[in-house]
Amino acid sequence: AAGQRKLPLTVLIAAPRGFCAGVDRAIEIVERALERYGAPVYVRHEIVHNRFVVDGLRAKGAIFVEELDEVPADAPVVFSAHGVPKSVPAEAERREMIYLDATCPLVSKVHRQAERQIEKGQHILFIGHDGHPEVIGTMGQVPEGHITLVETVEDVARLPFTQDDELSFLTQTTLSVDDTAEIVAALMARYPQIVAPKAEDICYATSNRQAAVKAMAGSCDLLLVIGAPNSSNSLRLVEVAERMGTDARLIQRASEIDPAWLDGLGTVGVTAGASAPEVLVREVIDRLAEWRAIDEQTVVTTEEKMVFKLPRQLTE
Ligand code: F3S
Repeated sequence: AAGQRKLPLTVLIAAPRGFCAGVDRAIEIVERALERYGAPVYVRHEIVHNRFVVDGLRAKGAIFVEELDEVPADAPVVFSAHGVPKSVPAEAERREMIYLDATCPLVSKVHRQAERQIEKGQHILFIGHDGHPEVIGTMGQVPEGHITLVETVEDVARLPFTQDDELSFLTQTTLSVDDTAEIVAALMARYPQIVAPKAEDICYATSNRQAAVKAMAGSCDLLLVIGAPNSSNSLRLVEVAERMGTDARLIQRASEIDPAWLDGLGTVGVTAGASAPEVLVREVIDRLAEWRAIDEQTVVTTEEKMVFKLPRQLTE
């Protein structure tokens, strides 16, 4: 049965990977709200971009909707980790609803900066991906006409502003560190007067996961990124590997892996986006072990200790 012996495969597992503090907090808010208020608890938008997480909460009594008007006024509602435009809590107040805000504190920080920049009379150039809920939420913090979305370096060249305009910029939290640096450089070259955010808006979890992929992609024949197709930070991990010349695939579950992908490969990397739970990482490694004799190694680039407090409504 020598022919049936499994071929060796080195599996490099990125660290950090998976859940960030904002995702942990958002999920806990829904779970605690279910305990406190009983089911159903409504959630506006996927609490985090992961089907496994959403299905798990739905099984416990969460109901996911896209807009607030789908929620009965007497039911509690949670706003997702990505943040919401100001009009959403305002509408919840008007309807006297019980609402819990699971917006990541690092997204809220960008929201408050946007308000301050507008108070100072600056027009905001916001670097982000059109249509992403975080972008809709952040742009919805300020009156229309005071913020302009910039997605690419090419967009910068097309902006109508001059060097006499008071400008500032902010960014989405889950962008590519490298692409953003290029866009910021283009903005600063065209508008030397532009005011930068106090600190980098790309969050620690996004940059740490990208750095972890950079550290190991060169040693991998293929990188498997566990994450959802609508998860911005997961898509960026695929790009980081591809730009280093390493094949990368975004998968939601182990069942999506085609064993043929592994043909002839000696080393496969595994990581997970900030909204992907660790059980799915385990599931992927176990699946690889069904086909190959794996040697599992964790590649640690940094340790994360970030924890965010829950909203007061849930701790009192
Ligand atoms: Fe927050 Fe960054 Fe996670 S903004 S939700 S810590 S990916």
